[in-house]
Amino acid sequence: EQKKLWGGRFTGKTDPLMEKFNESLPFDKRMWAEDVRGSQAYAKALAKAGVLTEEEASTIVEGLSKVAGEWEAGSFEIKSGDEDIHTANERRLSEVIGSVGGKLHTGRSRNDQVATDTRLWLYGQLQLIRAALRELITAAADRAEAEVDVLMPGFTHLQPAQTVRWSHWLLSHAASWQRDDMRLRDLMPRVGTLPLGSGALAGNPFGVDRQFLSHELGFEGRVCPNSMDAVSDRDFVAEFLFASSLHMVHLSRWAEDLIIYSSGQFKFVQCSDAYATGSSLMPQKKNPDALELLRGKGGKQIGNLTGMMAVIKGTPTTYNKDFQESWELMFDTVDTTYDCVRIATGVLSTLSINPEKMLAGLSDDMLATDLAEYLVRKGVPFRETHHISGAAVKLAEDRNCQLSDLSVADLQGIHPLFAEDVMAVWDFDRSAEMRDTEGGASKRSVLEQVAKLRTYLKE
Ligand code: ARG
Repeated sequence: EQKKLWGGRFTGKTDPLMEKFNESLPFDKRMWAEDVRGSQAYAKALAKAGVLTEEEASTIVEGLSKVAGEWEAGSFEIKSGDEDIHTANERRLSEVIGSVGGKLHTGRSRNDQVATDTRLWLYGQLQLIRAALRELITAAADRAEAEVDVLMPGFTHLQPAQTVRWSHWLLSHAASWQRDDMRLRDLMPRVGTLPLGSGALAGNPFGVDRQFLSHELGFEGRVCPNSMDAVSDRDFVAEFLFASSLHMVHLSRWAEDLIIYSSGQFKFVQCSDAYATGSSLMPQKKNPDALELLRGKGGKQIGNLTGMMAVIKGTPTTYNKDFQESWELMFDTVDTTYDCVRIATGVLSTLSINPEKMLAGLSDDMLATDLAEYLVRKGVPFRETHHISGAAVKLAEDRNCQLSDLSVADLQGIHPLFAEDVMAVWDFDRSAEMRDTEGGASKRSVLEQVAKLRTYLKE
């Protein structure tokens, strides 16, 4: 039976179920590298403060490297009583270098240690997720540029609305992903702020240099401003869960569009074999499973965010063991987000499109707004032209014909300012090209959107 880190004032044994209930090593061992890095920096800070000799500090730093080597090689042996990653690493360190290992925790608490480890770990993961997200955005920009001439119906309320470009639709989603990337970018300095040197709650009594620690750990001099807040604060986890949940909500909406567009009634797009599956019963089926999973995982992720908020909300100031419940939510969210972004990139870059079907989805009534705008250009107030064009739609409906089948004389019967040139309105490409302002559906505008996205990606 191993001595507990905190066992001095205890005489009774821990209930075995409690032992298991309390331990976090099964999941927080994932942060072994960050725990070692934090401890190595702390040993150096203790030496700078004169608490350790240079020799003691280097013995600890080297000992910790050996411990890291064991984790790396998969040979680290977990012993009963290794409550969490901090306990396990410190126990092993002392086995490797002897009693000087017992000096490492001077002035430090697992409270500032665990917050430091988590921030270090999440900081690294944010970089990986952002890199993957940028690949997704790049894939959207590439397709948008290559397929800019493809027209498709745009929908509101899922009802056919106006002519847009397929690329315009792609970029509408890329715009939301760009905001997601910005949110993660903005979050990074708040994640990368140093709690270490806060002790259990009241601060460090040995004068460790927190600026030094912050620089040593790659946090560029950012330190938590208040030791009580430093061990209390899990905002950075909640913020990450929010930012990634919102990103998953965006991926889910994108997936939902594609599920609709790939349905038998639309056939605008088809998922590649790599991201679809078949039916065990119906031989003809090709189901967009990757997209459905993206949609479903978005739901799970919102649960993680809600769970995290609920874990923190009732805790009094400073550290409470409730916080231990956040690891699994955070780990799961990081893994899910990373996988989803990469799956989405795969789906997007291998999807085949059917421009003829998209074109066939355009109907003349989607040019009714253009018909109204024709009269606007002849000086009629839009409010009136809306009604006039509506009357034309009604007439075509009554006659069971297309809007473009109405003759100039028919239209003149509704308003005298209609002339021969009205026939130019019946052109889907023209309709998109007319919308040439910044952010619109014209080819120039869409290519400008691509260019701006590429500039952002280079930043
Ligand atoms: N395993 C704990 C956690 O995940 C580490 C901190 C424990 N600190 C303490 N004073 N009990 O939050």
